[in-house]
Amino acid sequence: MIPSPLLEFRQVSKTYGDGAATIRALDRIDLSIERHQFLAIMGPSGSGKSTAMNILGCLDVPSSGAYLFDGVEVGNLDRGQRTLLRRHMLGFVFQGFNLLARTSAIENVELPLVYRGMAGPERRRLAKRALGMVGLAGREDHTSAQLSGGQQQRVAIARAIVTEPKVLLADEPTGNLDTRTGDEIMALMTALNREQGITVIMVTHEDEIAAYADRIVRFVDGHLDSDRPNVKEASHVL
Ligand SMILES: Nc1ncnc2c1ncn2[C@@H]1O[C@H](COP(=O)(O)OP(=O)(O)O)[C@@H](O)[C@H]1O
Ligand SMILES: [Mg+2]
Repeated sequence: MIPSPLLEFRQVSKTYGDGAATIRALDRIDLSIERHQFLAIMGPSGSGKSTAMNILGCLDVPSSGAYLFDGVEVGNLDRGQRTLLRRHMLGFVFQGFNLLARTSAIENVELPLVYRGMAGPERRRLAKRALGMVGLAGREDHTSAQLSGGQQQRVAIARAIVTEPKVLLADEPTGNLDTRTGDEIMALMTALNREQGITVIMVTHEDEIAAYADRIVRFVDGHLDSDRPNVKEASHVL
């Protein structure tokens, strides 16, 4: 038996509204994403990137077609099952970091474990370890206001990986960062992909950021316009 891809879109369409006002955000997308892949999604504003990410992240379901997560059709799960899938299998990173203000780094990272009902000491142990993995050992008690943008995004990545997800979904993770800090964040995401085997799916509009991925797909008007492997420069492989 051929193993199924980790994530698969089969003729996925997504429409908003109805009648003459219908917007077709995604139009019959076929896309297979293998385990441990690092995929970049590019395309102009309004081309359907975030819509695709919302479906990949089980926050939304297709209007037609099927989204399969490890062979399971997500559209057939109820809301509670989708929430569990999200909490156990997926990590999210956003452009704006989305940390709780006036809350320490470690408390932010512990949050997904609170939702799991994990006891305090175990939670803190895992959150501390995740902060160490993103290079923030010793900053556990700093609040967002006491951290740079790059450090805040590292906290957000620690929060995303503390549950040991199979997939990390990142929508413009370097959009609010300067070039050098953006490169540092990409080096971290590359390491998580290579060393932890996390499948990474990232939206970006910057070629320099997409260059870290091993595959680049491009959306135009809700269609998959191109899909190509990315040949990396030596500096990105290091
Ligand atoms: N909740 C929504 N209601 C109505 N239209 C939406 C909604 N979300 C997205 N759209 C529309 O769907 C299209 C794709 O949007 P989106 O996926 O956000 O694109 P991108 O992330 O590539 O900028 C756009 O035309 C957008 O206006
Ligand atoms: Mg978007």
